[in-house]
Amino acid sequence: MTTGWSIWVMFLVVLNMGITFFLFLWAPHAKVPSRGDGTTGHAWAGGAIREGLRPLPRWWIVLSGAMFLGAFGYLWLYPGFGAHKGKLGWTAHGQLAREVAANDARLDPLLDRFRMYSVEQLAGDGEALQMGKRLFEDNCAACHGRAAHGNQALGAPDLTDHDWLYGGTGKDIVTSITHGRGGVMPSWSALGDTTVKDLAQYVLSLSGRPHDDLMAAVAEPIFKSTCAACHGADGKGNQGIGAPNLTDGIWLHGGSLEAIETTIRGGRQGHMPNWDRRLDADDIRVTAAYVYSLSHPGHGDAD
Ligand code: HEC
Ligand code: HEC
Repeated sequence: MTTGWSIWVMFLVVLNMGITFFLFLWAPHAKVPSRGDGTTGHAWAGGAIREGLRPLPRWWIVLSGAMFLGAFGYLWLYPGFGAHKGKLGWTAHGQLAREVAANDARLDPLLDRFRMYSVEQLAGDGEALQMGKRLFEDNCAACHGRAAHGNQALGAPDLTDHDWLYGGTGKDIVTSITHGRGGVMPSWSALGDTTVKDLAQYVLSLSGRPHDDLMAAVAEPIFKSTCAACHGADGKGNQGIGAPNLTDGIWLHGGSLEAIETTIRGGRQGHMPNWDRRLDADDIRVTAAYVYSLSHPGHGDAD
């Protein structure tokens, strides 16, 4: 706090306390006009209510006096009077540091236990899941949704469906969270609009959806030469580069004919941020355990 601010705060404190003290001394002696009937003559509600004149109750005066003295005590012990640090040396930072340390001390034994388990085992530990759920809601729900069903507009996958772009073992999930992911589907508009439409029919055929046989047949060799490098000759995808399985009826960017054509024509990019700078390794493991549990409901015990 600069000296100017300090003086200003001190001035305000002295002014407020001064006014209060003055009222306190003055009020009992104040001359209030009174009538013969013992009222002030102020009347409301057409005279039905008249203001009486009674001395302040003693308990009220004693209590106010105690609070007034208490305020001095507080300003002596705690910061409040300008830059005066207070006799106890209390600071908000200090209090926060003590509370964080106490919380760490409480969590340490829990985290020690968690470190002995694999992510898959942690997914069967109620306390780990509770922590993981909270971390998920704070950090991940914005894109993947509170129930983790994903968001096609953002290209954020459903994490509950057992269909993995990059693999669904505990280790794969930890890697996805720690380092982030970024799948790139190139744009194929250069192939021409007719070919894009043929390819979309072929993609529909891969998951057994109604499609135009002739167009799909025309596109098949193009898929094998152009798309199979990433999506595989059978269209089942490649977890090494996050190329989705096109045969399972689960869509990252939408499975309507229009959405598929848009994907092929314009390409798509997914960006999953890396969390290694925002979450520590323990937090990432419990979050991964929570994610793992979502597609393994009733996942067994932790031993
Ligand atoms: C900014 C939006 C965003 C946030 C926040 C986010 N994600 Fe993601 N996440 C994505 C996108 C987009 C992808 C798909 C990446 C791709 O297409 O290559 C993804 C992919 C993943 C995958 C890989 C899924 C698979 O099928 O292999 C996992 C696991 C995952 N996220 C978990 C998390 C967790 C846990 C958090 C919170 C710590 C989180 N995400 C936060 C957008 C996000
Ligand atoms: C360089 C590798 C690569 C090639 C080549 C490639 N893709 Fe992709 N494709 C991807 C990746 C990676 C994604 C996921 C993008 C993301 O993470 O958002 C994807 C996504 C898609 C999707 C969206 C799937 C969904 O679930 O919404 C479709 C459809 C698709 N590709 C079709 C094709 C077709 C057709 C071709 C050939 C013309 C092709 N891809 C060529 C890498 C590739």
